[in-house]
Amino acid sequence: MTLDEAKKLLAANGQEHVLKFYSKLSAAQKKALLAQIESIDFAAVKYCRETLAAKDAPVKKAKKEAKIVAPKVAELKGKALEKAVAAGEKELAAGRVAVLLVAGGQGSRLGFDGPKGCYEIGPVTGAPLFYFHARKVLALTAKYEKSVPFYIMTSEANYEATVRHFDEHNFFGLDPEDVIFFKQGMWPGMTDDGKIILDAPGHIFMSPDGHGGLIASHERTRCFKDMKKRGVKSVYFFQVDNPLVEVADPAFIGHHVLNKAEYSLKVCAKRDWKEGLGVPVKKGSHFEMIEYTELSEADAKRTTANGELYFKYGSPAIHVFDRAFLEREAKKAMPLHLAHKKIQTVDAKGKIVKASEPNGWKFEKFIFDILPDAKSVTNVAFDRADEFAPVKNAEGSDSPATCQAALKAKWAKGLAAKYGITLSEDATIEVDPIFELDGSAAAIFIGK
Ligand code: UTP
Repeated sequence: MTLDEAKKLLAANGQEHVLKFYSKLSAAQKKALLAQIESIDFAAVKYCRETLAAKDAPVKKAKKEAKIVAPKVAELKGKALEKAVAAGEKELAAGRVAVLLVAGGQGSRLGFDGPKGCYEIGPVTGAPLFYFHARKVLALTAKYEKSVPFYIMTSEANYEATVRHFDEHNFFGLDPEDVIFFKQGMWPGMTDDGKIILDAPGHIFMSPDGHGGLIASHERTRCFKDMKKRGVKSVYFFQVDNPLVEVADPAFIGHHVLNKAEYSLKVCAKRDWKEGLGVPVKKGSHFEMIEYTELSEADAKRTTANGELYFKYGSPAIHVFDRAFLEREAKKAMPLHLAHKKIQTVDAKGKIVKASEPNGWKFEKFIFDILPDAKSVTNVAFDRADEFAPVKNAEGSDSPATCQAALKAKWAKGLAAKYGITLSEDATIEVDPIFELDGSAAAIFIGK
């Protein structure tokens, strides 16, 4: 893009200030700034500005808005579980299942420098989060003798490092042909008045457009087409920070398929009324996810006659989507969520200023905003001790320490149930997911 083209584009979008320090930049910085301007989707910028301008407008409520109620939640046991497992195994053996990992987040709470998937969580070998996910996909491939394509969404910022990490680890044993990386979009941050923020004189502050960026990613078409070509019908979706996740477990896939669902959710009982998990609800004839910050305290605390929370279940973002449903959603605009953040900026002279208070807006799309469009939805309960211990914070709850304790408890339970092995309290272990699945590979690492 030439300087003139950039000027025209910025003027047409009310963003001329982006070139304020252009004349003072080095040749390389000038080139980089023009490339950055060229990479920005200005139609999306317009949408962000409109959303920002409308943020304080009163929300128009339908005259007779339906009440939110707790959705029906299936607890798979006995015959129902057997049927679901059989149906799921059939899908896996037929190669109709893909796995999709969203790994484009910034991991700011954890404070780890690099893609969160590279964070070393294995208690003995220091295996990264990606290892546990990839080895589970490999275990499925081995068990069902069919490839399970593994799609990994990154942001522009962590794409190179993620691909390099897989490369350096020989794709954790997976066939590189079956590992498909793609990028979500990046959006510029904005001030209250919709002006793009410069975080250096020659650089625009950009942030990933949320896990919902999956639906609107420029490269989604390529992925969805690839899935179709491979004959994929169900897409198992999960987040990078939870190494306990049961990737594409047949029961969940099978329940989804048997119910001809377009969107299935795994849900677990919340620790307490204020736990920060999205709450799936039913409103009239459709389903919605209410962010925990948006559920009223009265609703969050509401109990049933037996004293249980009425909105008992939270969503750890483990889903199965019908592929055709995702394709349909890709044609629609998703709502934007605004987050007020501290963003580094520059003063009138181009000097870098660190923000001490929130001074700008980031924009994100959330995957669960497609939930109301799904024609058929199922919710399946699971035991969080077996499947959910995310690494969100550096310390305290949902930290590496709590996650490793949960991993150890899960492995110990599995070894006791399958092999009658009892581990001592202070044993440090790590189990390769391939071993967990069928015990065929000797891959238990004992620390002490
Ligand atoms: P989180 O909401 O935990 O965000 O993401 P995060 O960016 O990883 O961490 P914080 O909030 O900065 O501390 C949940 C999942 O969604 C993915 C993350 O990689 C994680 O798997 N995600 C999030 C994306 O893929 N893209 C995004 O833009 C945001």
